[in-house]
Amino acid sequence: MKVLLLLVCLGTALSIEPEYGVGQRKFKVSDKLFLERQRDLLHLFQFINQPDNDEEHLKISKTYSIEDNIDAYINSTAVKKFVGLYKQGLLPRGEIFSLLYQAHLEQAITLFKLFYYARDFNTLYKTAVWARNNVNEGLFLYSFSTALVHRDDTFSFVLPPIYEIYPYYFFNGEDIEKAQRYKQQYNGGTKTYTIYSNYSGYYLNLNKEQSLSYYLEDVGLNAFYYYCNIYYPFWMDGVEFKLKNDRRGEQYYYLYQQLLARYYLERLSNDQGEIEFFNYEEPFKYGYYSSLRYPNGLAFPNRPNYAKLTETYYNYGQSWTFRSRYGFAYTKIQDIEKRLRDSIDAGYIFKKDGKYIDLLASDQIDLLGNLIESNPDSVHPNFYGPWQIYARHLLGYSYQPLNKYKVAPSALEHFETAQRDPAFYQLYKRIVLHFQLYKLYLPPYTYNELYFPGVKVEKVDFDRLLTYFDSFDSDVTNAVYNAPNETWGSFKVKIRQQRLNHKPFTYRISVKSDKSEEAIVRVYLGPKFDEYGRVIEIDQNRMNFIELDVFKYQLQTGENRIERNSRQLYWFVPDRTTSRDLYRKVVDAIGNTEQFQLDSSEAFYGFPNRLLLPKGKREGQVFQVYVIVNKYQAPGRAEVQQNYYFHRVGTGMNYIDNYAFGFPFDRAIVSSEFKVPNSRFQEVVVYHKNVDELNSSQAQNEP
Ligand SMILES: *[C@@H]1O[C@H](CO)[C@@H](O)[C@H](O)[C@H]1NC(C)=O
Ligand SMILES: *[C@@H]1O[C@H](CO)[C@@H](O)[C@H](O)[C@H]1NC(C)=O
Ligand SMILES: *[C@@H]1O[C@H](CO)[C@@H](O)[C@H](O)[C@H]1NC(C)=O
Ligand SMILES: *[C@@H]1O[C@H](CO)[C@@H](O)[C@H](O)[C@H]1NC(C)=O
Repeated sequence: MKVLLLLVCLGTALSIEPEYGVGQRKFKVSDKLFLERQRDLLHLFQFINQPDNDEEHLKISKTYSIEDNIDAYINSTAVKKFVGLYKQGLLPRGEIFSLLYQAHLEQAITLFKLFYYARDFNTLYKTAVWARNNVNEGLFLYSFSTALVHRDDTFSFVLPPIYEIYPYYFFNGEDIEKAQRYKQQYNGGTKTYTIYSNYSGYYLNLNKEQSLSYYLEDVGLNAFYYYCNIYYPFWMDGVEFKLKNDRRGEQYYYLYQQLLARYYLERLSNDQGEIEFFNYEEPFKYGYYSSLRYPNGLAFPNRPNYAKLTETYYNYGQSWTFRSRYGFAYTKIQDIEKRLRDSIDAGYIFKKDGKYIDLLASDQIDLLGNLIESNPDSVHPNFYGPWQIYARHLLGYSYQPLNKYKVAPSALEHFETAQRDPAFYQLYKRIVLHFQLYKLYLPPYTYNELYFPGVKVEKVDFDRLLTYFDSFDSDVTNAVYNAPNETWGSFKVKIRQQRLNHKPFTYRISVKSDKSEEAIVRVYLGPKFDEYGRVIEIDQNRMNFIELDVFKYQLQTGENRIERNSRQLYWFVPDRTTSRDLYRKVVDAIGNTEQFQLDSSEAFYGFPNRLLLPKGKREGQVFQVYVIVNKYQAPGRAEVQQNYYFHRVGTGMNYIDNYAFGFPFDRAIVSSEFKVPNSRFQEVVVYHKNVDELNSSQAQNEP
């Protein structure tokens, strides 16, 4: 209800019918207050690594006192905790912030709560301006962004793209260096510089994994993962911050399963096979050289090929104290993993109070997800500890810090950069295999569970699928130093990269039904052959399917011709507006020279639509599509609210029905039970072209 009310106050008009999915709804916003707030928020993100030169900001940050305004916050406990920490000394400005270091994490949570519990927007704004000037840049950016997307009064604002706010984590060191040189040569006037940038795989030859750097270093892919972790932080208490309705634990599992499946498809397009498995005892085969540089000039730590992970090698010469959480990472991970495997095999989870939970009486994937993520909703976060934190330290091959404020984290230890390191996928493959081990203990779906009586999928037909690389510009002006009297706007530098894209396409499904009924349609894309051209057996292959689309559909008696296009798909969103355009549009709308169109997908997150299809081949790369139509089952939990116009964490909007994520591929497949008439496999071929060949081939309509 709250959101509907909000919309009414905004005076917004719906220009497009609300529909499920995150990428489709656009609103015309004319409300001045909303626009001014959006502008002020955007302004706070500009030049975040440099001193704030805005006069109004400086005035507020000098005069505002949190302690004197304690009544302006809903939760005084949280405020007192922050003030206490601040007096002890927070991470200083200029140091590197990483959420995966305990002291940093504690500060980030405390600062987040300060923002979250501000009673009104005005208090939030003053607190933010104060923090922008008084706490560490990375700490501020993280806590503030997280608070904005979770607060009742700010979740519908747009965050500027993270790769423009913090270019250091998205573009290679030499590009940042070039940007800074341009700035030095710049002598006034309005000027735009363009840097043509390559991915690290075009000049490094460390190992074969680097050849997929165009995918691993894609700014959209990495921004997606960053936003996932802003909306669903691993440290966030699901009760205090209302995540409970979102099937959070299950979503954790599904995110990684989908990321792995998507990466595997990309590997097949490049004639590479499965994501490899590794053992901790053996040297880790694939090294990683990040090419990234911190804003203070420090390089990211790198990992050599065949890095030894055991404690004696990894920690040689470094400190060994009981309090060192990371020195013992090698042992800790293996302990935790063993406990998980034992519990899954036993079918019982050990709780904090010494009691057990039966894992097999029903599908407990949600509970297991919370347990493995080791988030505050876990039933025993000490026993089943923060596996990923240790693993990221270990595989990242970063050094133990001398003290808590002098850290040099590896790429794996930032959400913005983690996916650039191929070890990310090898690590999460291990995690996903634990979930799959569990799912194997659950009974496979029977024919009757899959069957939708009287419904038959007769035909699935896709337009010709075509991928290509096209230019994409990111504004990286935030990476150069701005003189105090310079205004944002005259000097501009952008990085132009070639990013994977595909031609928009439509697909059609013909369904025959003997009744009129509400149905749920799922569409998956997966491999058909492995890298050697051998057919992958379906029970092996089921984990390799990505969910292309899921939607509710009202079936009519007789023939139903369903048509969907690639811009409608459920989880896929367009590129974000550049921060500069966003700012200009908002300012123009305030001055009434333009209407501000708010795209609801930019006030949420989704997987980049660009990367929907894996790269094709000139001669065609064969994949297959699976469609299944089932009876619609409304979400089970009573609190779930589906009629918000904006996507919102905590409303249960991430799922539109009551089936398991990944249904029916989430459980073992018994082929005699699996072939129901309300489902269908269809081979599809993806072609790849150079961008300049696109128009001519379209005219001739040849592959
Ligand atoms: C207030 O904050 C404290 C400390 O963060 C937390 O434990 C508590 O649950 C919060 N209280 C409310 C009512 O949200
Ligand atoms: C990127 O690398 C490719 C392959 O080495 C090369 O052909 C291309 O010119 C490079 N582009 C830029 C902008 O450096
Ligand atoms: C900024 O200040 C410097 C030195 O005070 C001056 O040379 C320069 O012209 C000023 N730039 C602008 C845009 O006002
Ligand atoms: C292809 O055609 C479209 C419009 O027909 C045009 O906008 C686009 O620039 C063309 N692309 C190339 C690479 O020529």
